[in-house]
Amino acid sequence: MLILALPGAGPLAAGLAAQLNCDWSELALHRFPDGEALVRIDKPVRGRCVVLAGSLHHPDEKTLPLLFAADAARELGAAQVGLVAPYLAYMRQDRRFGPGEAVTSRSYARLLSGSLDFLVTVDPHLHRWHSLTDLYPIRTQVVASAPLVGRWLRRHVAQPLVIGPDAESEQWVVEVAAAADAPWTLMNKHRHGDREVVVKMAHRGPWPDCTPVLVDDIVSTGETLLAAVAALREAGLTSPQCIAVHALFDPDALYRLLEAGVSRVVTCDTIPHPTNAIEMAPLLAKAVLATAGAGAGHGDEKPPFVPQPERPL
Ligand code: R5P
Repeated sequence: MLILALPGAGPLAAGLAAQLNCDWSELALHRFPDGEALVRIDKPVRGRCVVLAGSLHHPDEKTLPLLFAADAARELGAAQVGLVAPYLAYMRQDRRFGPGEAVTSRSYARLLSGSLDFLVTVDPHLHRWHSLTDLYPIRTQVVASAPLVGRWLRRHVAQPLVIGPDAESEQWVVEVAAAADAPWTLMNKHRHGDREVVVKMAHRGPWPDCTPVLVDDIVSTGETLLAAVAALREAGLTSPQCIAVHALFDPDALYRLLEAGVSRVVTCDTIPHPTNAIEMAPLLAKAVLATAGAGAGHGDEKPPFVPQPERPL
């Protein structure tokens, strides 16, 4: 196996390689003056399982180099080509919310699946899609962060009350609460725009002596958590702590949360960020082994790419 780090994902690739006891290398990326990308794989790949590694936040700049690298690995004789993307992009647009809109979750899945044999990710934003297999025809493996988040809560927070800011967070909240052996509740959210979010309490307790802990899969603008913090304060609860899986964070979002009285913000390390406290590499490595192993010996299922002879224009 060879782990190939997408630009900026050296630490993730090194962590996976250490867990899997295999080789890793950076994917070389050159940007031409007009912005086009040239990628180069500096290690032999013939007969190997090549695993591209990198989170897909800011996906537009990463996706073409990723597809070019996957195609290059295949053309150079890789036995199979997979992707470990701890954060998988374009999952939130899971229906046509307005007339004429693209359902990007479906298009993005089609794009990646055309070049990959397998995909491993952490807690993709599954809401209207029930499973990654609804979208991705390739082998996929989802790593759940809830057991690790629950363990973190048991070790660091006395009497947590796990609170989801919206109905979509129920799947994570229920599992985290079970893993932490804690009570849970959900709030009601209405999003009217990227930065216009209203969150209200759906239940009022009583939750005596509990430490409120907001749990969500993604923090991006921070507006969801900020609105939830305001509603909790209005209901008379003490300052909450916040835990998120994917730290997309706008530049000022963390500062605004702390300003709003949040006592601690913790995330999984699916996207590098100062709040990362929960390490996913061991579970990701296990998932890679299971998923790549399921494809071993089936390298002939997909016909090898045959380069066409060059033709003059
Ligand atoms: C949406 O349903 C997600 O679960 C998150 O609640 C959302 O993406 C958070 O975004 P923001 O931080 O921009 O409010």
